[in-house]
Amino acid sequence: MEDVTADRSFDDFVPAPNQADDPDLYEVENRAIDPKGHLWHALIEAAPWSGRTLVDLGCGTGYWLPHYREAGEVIGVEPDERLLDAARARPGGAQVLHGSAEHLPLGDDSVDVVHARFAYFFPHERFDPGPGLDEVARVLRPGGRLVVIDNDTERGEFAELLRRSDWAEEQGRTPFASRWWAERGAETTPVMSSWSFDDAATCEAVLRMEFPGHVVDEWWQEHGPTVELSYGYLLHVWRAPG
Ligand SMILES: C[S@@+](CC[C@H](N)C(=O)[O-])C[C@H]1O[C@@H](n2cnc3c(N)ncnc32)[C@H](O)[C@@H]1O
Repeated sequence: MEDVTADRSFDDFVPAPNQADDPDLYEVENRAIDPKGHLWHALIEAAPWSGRTLVDLGCGTGYWLPHYREAGEVIGVEPDERLLDAARARPGGAQVLHGSAEHLPLGDDSVDVVHARFAYFFPHERFDPGPGLDEVARVLRPGGRLVVIDNDTERGEFAELLRRSDWAEEQGRTPFASRWWAERGAETTPVMSSWSFDDAATCEAVLRMEFPGHVVDEWWQEHGPTVELSYGYLLHVWRAPG
C-alpha cells in the first residue's frame, strides 16, 4: 500500500509495516491466532468486559472489534487514517475514532477496559510509553483496566524468531517490559498459545511478512514445513486507582 495518505498528525504514531503494508495477509495472521482460545480466556479473566465500555486501542483494520460481543459498547481507536474505513466496515457497529495512545478522543473517566494489542506499548531502552499510560489513566473509570497484549520474547517458537530478528529489539524484550510494567504497579501474566494456519505455504508467507528473509529461511529449514507454531504472550494488566 502506498504511503500517500498516512496521517502523521499524532506525534506518537508509528505505522505498523505488517498491518498497513499487507492488510489481507495480516487478516490471515489474525485468523491464525489462538485457535484454542487460551489467550481469549486470559483476556476475559484479566478484565471482564460484559456490559462494559471497551476500547481497542490501535485497532488497525478492526479485526477484533466484532469479537467483543458481550461488551456494552465497543470503541476502536486508530491513528492510521488508511485503516479507518476497514475498521468501520466491520460487523457489530463499533464506533471507530481517529486517535492515538497519547491523544485519546475520549472523555475523562469514560471507559472500563482498554485493550492495546501489539500497539504502542512497547517499552524499551529508547522508548518510554509513560505519556500513553497517563492518557489511558485519564479515560479509565476508577478501577478500570488497561490490558496490554505483548509478545513474550522468551517462551515459544515465535519468541525464537523474535530473538533472531534485529528489528524486534525495537519492540523490546520481556525482562525490560515486565520490569517497566511492574514499576508502574501492573501485573504481568504469561500465556502460552499458538498460531494455526490452513496450510504450510500460508504459514510461511505470514512469517515472511513478520521477519527478515534470512531468519525465516533458517527457521523454516529447522522447523518447516509446518502449519503451527507455539506462541507465548505476555498480558500486562494495569488497574486505575479507585
Ligand atoms: C501490529 S498493528 C496491530 C493492529 C491490531 N491491534 C490487531 O491486532 O489487529 C499495530 C497498530 O498500532 C497502531 N499504532 C501505531 N502507533 C500508535 C499509537 N501511537 N497509538 C495507538 N496505536 C498506534 C498502528 O497504526 C496499527 O494499527
